[in-house]
Amino acid sequence: MEIRIRSGGHDYEGLSYVSNVPFVVIDLINLREIQIDLENSNAWVQGGATVGELLYKISQKSKTLGFPAGVCPTVGVSGLISGGGYGFLMRKYGLSADNILDAHIIDVNGRVLDREAMDEDLFWAIRGGGGASFGVIIAWKIKLVHVPSTVTLFNVPRTLEQNGTKLIRKWQLVANKLDEDLNIRIILERANSSTPTIKVTFESLFLGGVDRLIPLMEEKFPELGLVKEDCNEMSWIESVLYLAGFTKNEPLEVLLNRTHDGVLFFKAKSDYVRDPIPDIGFEGLWPMFYEDEAKAAVLIFTPYGGRMDEISDSEIPFPHRAGNIYKIQHLVFWKEKGDEVEKRQINWMRKLYSYMEPFVSKSPRAAYVNYRDLDIGVNNINGFTSYKKASIWGLKYFKNNFKKLAMVKTKVDPLNFFRNEQSIPSMSSFDNITTMHSSILPCLEGVQLEFPRAVHAIV
Ligand SMILES: Cc1cc2nc3c(=O)[nH]c(=O)nc-3n(C[C@H](O)[C@H](O)[C@H](O)COP(=O)(O)OP(=O)(O)OC[C@H]3O[C@@H](n4cnc5c(N)ncnc54)[C@H](O)[C@@H]3O)c2cc1C
Ligand SMILES: *[C@@H]1O[C@H](CO)[C@@H](O)[C@H](O)[C@H]1NC(C)=O
Ligand SMILES: *[C@@H]1O[C@H](CO)[C@@H](O)[C@H](O)[C@H]1NC(C)=O
Ligand SMILES: *[C@@H]1O[C@H](CO)[C@@H](O)[C@H](O)[C@H]1NC(C)=O
Repeated sequence: MEIRIRSGGHDYEGLSYVSNVPFVVIDLINLREIQIDLENSNAWVQGGATVGELLYKISQKSKTLGFPAGVCPTVGVSGLISGGGYGFLMRKYGLSADNILDAHIIDVNGRVLDREAMDEDLFWAIRGGGGASFGVIIAWKIKLVHVPSTVTLFNVPRTLEQNGTKLIRKWQLVANKLDEDLNIRIILERANSSTPTIKVTFESLFLGGVDRLIPLMEEKFPELGLVKEDCNEMSWIESVLYLAGFTKNEPLEVLLNRTHDGVLFFKAKSDYVRDPIPDIGFEGLWPMFYEDEAKAAVLIFTPYGGRMDEISDSEIPFPHRAGNIYKIQHLVFWKEKGDEVEKRQINWMRKLYSYMEPFVSKSPRAAYVNYRDLDIGVNNINGFTSYKKASIWGLKYFKNNFKKLAMVKTKVDPLNFFRNEQSIPSMSSFDNITTMHSSILPCLEGVQLEFPRAVHAIV
């Protein structure tokens, strides 16, 4: 049987609890202890805790320490960190995975290893290489970061009639170059109005007070016309609540809730933008939002730059650093159950993705592993997958780091015990053999094998 490892259960393709082959779930739900060491600004968090639990616990100990985690409190720390993990602190402090000091992992031989005991390359691989390929991570030691006691939020919507497209044009020129205390993302969706138009929302967290924010905006992005009345000052933990969609009057304890309200079906994809998208690109996009399937479609533009530009592409497996202006998350939601609806909605998303191709990163068209998308390529089910075949999806998520990930996998799990539709392939049992006997490659590729070891038997 295959193993499925679950922390927060938020995998976009359900890889932590769904499979086409018989499987066992290792659920970390009962491993949720969090120990905070204020003196040294770090913490140990067990693998099954959620982002909300972690940030809540930190806030109970300090008003000026935080962690660069994700925006949604129900996401599990292990999926988040092992795939990178970003939120509004990314431009200042990088990813969750950039702030890891140590980890405890159970390897394929059942040994519990800390950073010192594990291969240094394994410690590299689990910080961004996607969970579930290397072992079961049972705890992370994280570095806490400084947050000011007052932060400022704003949420400014504009329609196309209110210069929406022009504002996006300007945003693309400044968003990744702004002061790293300032993170302004854009949310695009169909506006709720009698005449078709688009709502372009500028949503921002500023690590400081409104008095420092306004002059900064007047200097760098005056076109948005931000005024004091658009802004809300609060503590950092209140901003976590607010950005997660709660109001600041709700008790902080809602962050401890592992269940989500109003769960909908959705399909998502991601893209990286390295050159500003011209107006004409957006003008072609708007009509798609007016189609029936796009009633609840959302595009989210997350700015890069700042700390993200300072970390090299190969520091950890997450490769999307300098040169990226922003990341796009494409999302479409729907309520109705049923294959027909699902097919229509997913087709709409694929059409959108294909429309966006000329405007986004190329060779490879990069993607974020934590927005897992099985459309971009999968391993063979229940069989062996060559490095070459896995590269179809692997290079998109990890670019030049994919090869090293496969080498680490080969070292620590050569027989590919920890595997799923998009797990890192082990090269030992297949690729080495096929390089020696390349003539048999066409015969083996795609063969459904019951046990990986059977490859040796066939050869
Ligand atoms: C509503 C929502 C909001 C989100 N917001 C953000 C965001 O703001 N920022 C961001 O970066 N991402 C965000 N994501 C994406 C999120 O980071 C990924 O879906 C992440 O993989 C989820 O982690 P999880 O532990 O909840 O998921 P799971 O489904 O439990 O796990 C995800 C993957 O990691 C593996 N895994 C889980 N636990 C372990 C472990 N202990 N050891 C080894 N492998 C493990 C699983 O097998 C699976 O392959 C969001 C997702 C959702 C659904
Ligand atoms: C749109 O931009 C023009 C000039 O660039 C400006 O005069 C006008 O006030 C803007 N409209 C809105 C609603 O901001
Ligand atoms: C859209 O606007 C109408 C009228 O203002 C309102 O009744 C309705 O609730 C709105 N729908 C959504 C989804 O916000
Ligand atoms: C947790 O969330 C669920 C779903 O939104 C809700 O019904 C429940 O009341 C919440 N519990 C707490 C303690 O907030």
